[in-house]
Amino acid sequence: MNLFIKKPLEALLAQAGDSEKGLKRTLGAGNLIALGIGAIIGAGLFVRTAAAAGEAAGPAVVVSFIIAAIGCAFAGLCYAEFASMIPIAGSAYAYAYVTMGEFMAWIIGWALVLEYALASATVSIAWSEYLNNLVFELSGKNIPYEWCHSPFQTSLDGVSGIVNVPALFILVILTLVLIKGTQESATLNAIIVFIKVSIVLIFIAIGWGFINDANYTPFTIPADMPGHEPWNRHGWFGVLGGAGIVFFAFIGFDAVSTAAQEAKNPKRDMPIGILGSLVVCTILYVLFSHVLTGVANWQEFKVAGKEASVAYAIKTYMAGYGWLSTLVTIAILAGFSSVILVMLLGQSRVFYSMSKDGLVPKVFSELHPKFRTPFKSNALLLIFVGLFAGLVPGDVAGDLTSFGTLFAFVLVCVGIWVLRVKNPDAVRPFATPLVPLVPILGMLICSAMIFSLGPYTLMAAGIWMVFGLIIYFLYSRHNSNLRKESK
Ligand code: ALA
Repeated sequence: MNLFIKKPLEALLAQAGDSEKGLKRTLGAGNLIALGIGAIIGAGLFVRTAAAAGEAAGPAVVVSFIIAAIGCAFAGLCYAEFASMIPIAGSAYAYAYVTMGEFMAWIIGWALVLEYALASATVSIAWSEYLNNLVFELSGKNIPYEWCHSPFQTSLDGVSGIVNVPALFILVILTLVLIKGTQESATLNAIIVFIKVSIVLIFIAIGWGFINDANYTPFTIPADMPGHEPWNRHGWFGVLGGAGIVFFAFIGFDAVSTAAQEAKNPKRDMPIGILGSLVVCTILYVLFSHVLTGVANWQEFKVAGKEASVAYAIKTYMAGYGWLSTLVTIAILAGFSSVILVMLLGQSRVFYSMSKDGLVPKVFSELHPKFRTPFKSNALLLIFVGLFAGLVPGDVAGDLTSFGTLFAFVLVCVGIWVLRVKNPDAVRPFATPLVPLVPILGMLICSAMIFSLGPYTLMAAGIWMVFGLIIYFLYSRHNSNLRKESK
C-alpha cells in the first residue's frame, strides 16, 4: 500500500485549466485582496485583542500581533509560491497532493475542515453576541439567554442555554448567498470590506486623541500579578501567549488560495492577493490594538470591558462619541458576515477538490445547473457548521480553528521545502525567498503558537484527526481516483 502516491503536477494543472466545465473564472487581484481582508478582519480583532491584553499580554498585545503576523508572513510566502504554481481550488490540500502525497493531503484537508468550518461557526457565535448587544442598545431588552447560547453555557443567574438561534440564522442566510454564486458574493463582500476597514480607521483616528499614556506602563504583565501565574500569562512569554490568542485575527488570508480556480490570472494575482491582504491587516491591527489599550487600561478587559470591548472603550472614555459605539457594533455585524462567507466558501471549495479526487463523496462536487456552485456541498456544510454554531461555546470552536490553521501552515512550509528539493525545475511564477530559512522559521513560529493553545485543545484536535484517519482508511483510500487510474 503506497500512502504517498502523488498526483502529477501536470494532471492537477490540466484539471485547473478545464475551467469550461468547472467553476467560473471571475475574480481579479482587487477581488482577491478584498476576499482576503473579508476573511481576515473579524472576531479576532474586535473580540480577541481585548482578551489577549487582559489574559496574557497587557498593552504589549501590539507585539503579540507582530509575532503572529511574522508567523503568518512566513507561511504566507510559502502559500503564495504554491498558489502561483498550482492555480487550482483546494488550498493547502491540493498543494500537498502534488508534493507530499495523498495521505498528507488528506491530513491537511481534514485539518482545514477545522479551520474553515469551525471558523464559520466561531464567528457566527460572535455575530450572535453582537446582535444581542445591538438589540439591547436599540430596545433596552436582550434576546432570551437560552435562545442565543449553547447548552454548555449558563448565565450568571443560572439560566442554561438551549440553542444559539441567531448564529444559525446568519449561517442560513450566507449559505443561500453562496449558493447563488461567487461573483455576487464577491461584490457583497467588497462592500462589507469597505465598511469594516472604514470603521477600524475611524476608531484609530478618533481614539488616538483619547490615548492615556499611563495605560502603557507597565508594558507587559508583572509576574506577581494574581491570576497570571502560568508561564504564558505574564512578561514576554505572556506576549507569546497573546500571539496564540490574536492569531485567530489572521486566520483567513490563506482562504484566498482556495479561490485560485476562480481567479482570472492566478499566477500573478494569487501572491498579490495573499500577501497584500496580510500586509494591510497587520498595519490596521497594530494601530488598532495600540489605540484600544491606550484608551482603556488592559486590566478592564478582564471584567467590565470583557465583552464588546471596543464599544466599552468608546462609551467609557470617549465622551461625545456614543454614536460611534452603535456604528461600530453595526459594522462589526456586517464585518463578521463577510468572514463567515469567505470561510464557508473556502470549506466548500476544499471539499470540491477532495471530491473531484474521489476522497470524499461525489455529492460535494456536484454543481448547480444554473449557478455553477457546489450547492449540495453548501447545504450539507450548513448542517455540520450549524451543529457547532448552535450547540458549542465559541471559545472551544475558536481554539480548534486555530489548531487546524496552524497545523496546515506548518505542513505547507514543509511542502515548499520538499518541492524545492524534489522538483527544483518546476516553473515558479512566484518563488518563496530564502528557502529553507523562511519555511523553517514559519514552521517554528507556527509550532510555538500550536503549543501555546493548551492541552485540552490539543487533545480535542487529536481526536478529530484520528477520526479523519479512520475515514481515510475505510473510505477515501478505496475511492481515490488517482489510485484507480494507477492500477
Ligand atoms: N480572522 C477571522 C476573524 O478574526 C477569522 O474573525
